[in-house]
Amino acid sequence: MYPIVSVEALNSEVTRMEIFAPQVAKKIRPGQFIMLRIDEKGERIPLTMNDCDPVAGTVTIIFQQVGATTIRLASMLPGQAIQDFVGPLGNPTELDGVKRACVIGGGLGTAIAYPQAKWLHDHGAEVDVITGFRTKDLVILEKEIAEVAAWHKVMTDDGSNGNKGVVTAPLQERIDAGAGYELVSAVGPIIMMKFVALTTKAAGIKTLVSMNPLMVDGTGMCGGCRVKVGDQYLHACVDGPDFDGHLVDYDDAMRRGVAYRKFENAARERCLWAAKAEKIEEQQEAHDRLAETELEGKVGE
Ligand SMILES: Cc1cc2nc3c(=O)[nH]c(=O)nc-3n(C[C@H](O)[C@H](O)[C@H](O)COP(=O)(O)OP(=O)(O)OC[C@H]3O[C@@H](n4cnc5c(N)ncnc54)[C@H](O)[C@@H]3O)c2cc1C
Ligand code: FES
Repeated sequence: MYPIVSVEALNSEVTRMEIFAPQVAKKIRPGQFIMLRIDEKGERIPLTMNDCDPVAGTVTIIFQQVGATTIRLASMLPGQAIQDFVGPLGNPTELDGVKRACVIGGGLGTAIAYPQAKWLHDHGAEVDVITGFRTKDLVILEKEIAEVAAWHKVMTDDGSNGNKGVVTAPLQERIDAGAGYELVSAVGPIIMMKFVALTTKAAGIKTLVSMNPLMVDGTGMCGGCRVKVGDQYLHACVDGPDFDGHLVDYDDAMRRGVAYRKFENAARERCLWAAKAEKIEEQQEAHDRLAETELEGKVGE
């Protein structure tokens, strides 16, 4: 079992959780992920390392509550434990030797982009970071990124933080201003990575994108996580998750990403109803206890 060390809500949708997993903490690097299972009956889900502390033996994950498993996980507390926490899986992001880079995070992708920026900073690179969110209440990791970025710009779709627009606008400006990026690494919605790759292709800058298709085993066995890269299908779990952004077929990835939406929505509904039912049961029990106490009081009078 893997004990939960801390749990923190970063906003209404996103949770940061630190887990004691010393073997994983010793080896995991930016870009790599783990597969976890809450209990014996739970489904296995992949989550990327956000941070790790090999000395304390902890791995930090940040996840968005999007469905049955992530909603359940967010309700767990320090002291409780997770059944399986397997990793590191996948390949680390290829950052060795890079001296000037731009790391881009879209929404939750910021949690995955952050360790890349940190690693680059810690290894002497000058790294710019651009992050994008729907609205300012969803902005995460601003303080952590400020500590490692040479320059950081946060964009919002609705302009609620004063910077309205998509991440490619400041990216294009920086490129035009001669930022001299050797590498751009983007993590976020497929559509965002597609447009980042189009921007950097025109400028001839090497670009990595992190592909997060549906994964079942995470070890290259099931074939569920295929991504079309150039003229071949590769497995995101063993060949990725990072791929050459100029070769990924984003439209194919978007089509495959919605294939199981009906089943996922049904599982999410079941989970929400189970939580509601549990709450109603708790309220009923509290009500019964109160009624019992009152009755005992009356009998004693
Ligand atoms: C390599 C990799 C790294 C990831 N890292 C993170 C991360 O750091 N933080 C984070 O919040 N999310 C991450 N994800 C996505 C995360 O795995 C899904 O959000 C999670 O599995 C949802 O499960 P659920 O039961 O809560 O929701 P469901 O209702 O089952 O699914 C909701 C959505 O999550 C995605 N999803 C569902 N099951 C899987 C699966 N087995 N594999 C991949 N995607 C799935 C699908 O897009 C789906 O539409 C990552 C995915 C991959 C492949
Ligand atoms: S998750 Fe099964 S092959 Fe990648």
